[in-house]
Amino acid sequence: MGPFGRQDVRILLLGERGVGKTSLILSLVSEEFPDVVPPRAEEITIPADVTPEQVPTHIVDFSESEQSEQDLAREVQRADVVCLVYAVDDNHSLQQITERWLPLLHQSGEIVSAIPIILVGNKSDLLEQGNMESVLPIMNHYAEIETCVECSARTLRNISEMFYYAQKAVLHPTAPLYIAEDRE
Ligand code: GTP
Ligand code: MG
Repeated sequence: MGPFGRQDVRILLLGERGVGKTSLILSLVSEEFPDVVPPRAEEITIPADVTPEQVPTHIVDFSESEQSEQDLAREVQRADVVCLVYAVDDNHSLQQITERWLPLLHQSGEIVSAIPIILVGNKSDLLEQGNMESVLPIMNHYAEIETCVECSARTLRNISEMFYYAQKAVLHPTAPLYIAEDRE
């Protein structure tokens, strides 16, 4: 499954309700923060010629209010990379990354190889400073976490970067990185 054999990249966003998954996708697409969002964004496909790695990229939202556990399992099976989203102003959403989402993905990864994960701290506009201290131990524990990135759907900070890191994690896996600064 080298980079030259790959037809496309499928990115799935998971995380607790209200962390901003749908807002992140719509902010990427429209380059502005949507004030009102549906529970779930339609699957979008970014054509190869406008992606940094020149590979068609599908971005898939997940909504617990509209989708079942079976839908979740099926989407995880189909995904090439998962963006696990928490909100930096919501400790519970980060706690659920380790108590719910990482174990869920780790389990499904034991059957095949572990799926790469991008850990996404959204709503960085609400905090003065990042919370790298609470995230580093998680990165150290789960080797499948490729990159951590703090971003904001509201200010668009690190939004295109987050999707680029996800694409890159599939095409060119590397050692873990932590991205806290702007990379404009
Ligand atoms: P579910 O579909 O219920 O799982 O939630 P979700 O993860 O899709 O979150 P959604 O995009 O619906 O956003 C939830 C709330 O957070 C909305 O009121 C958004 O406006 C707000 N929000 C999303 N992203 C940001 C952000 O970067 N900064 C701030 N301040 N608010 C945000
Ligand atoms: Mg949503």
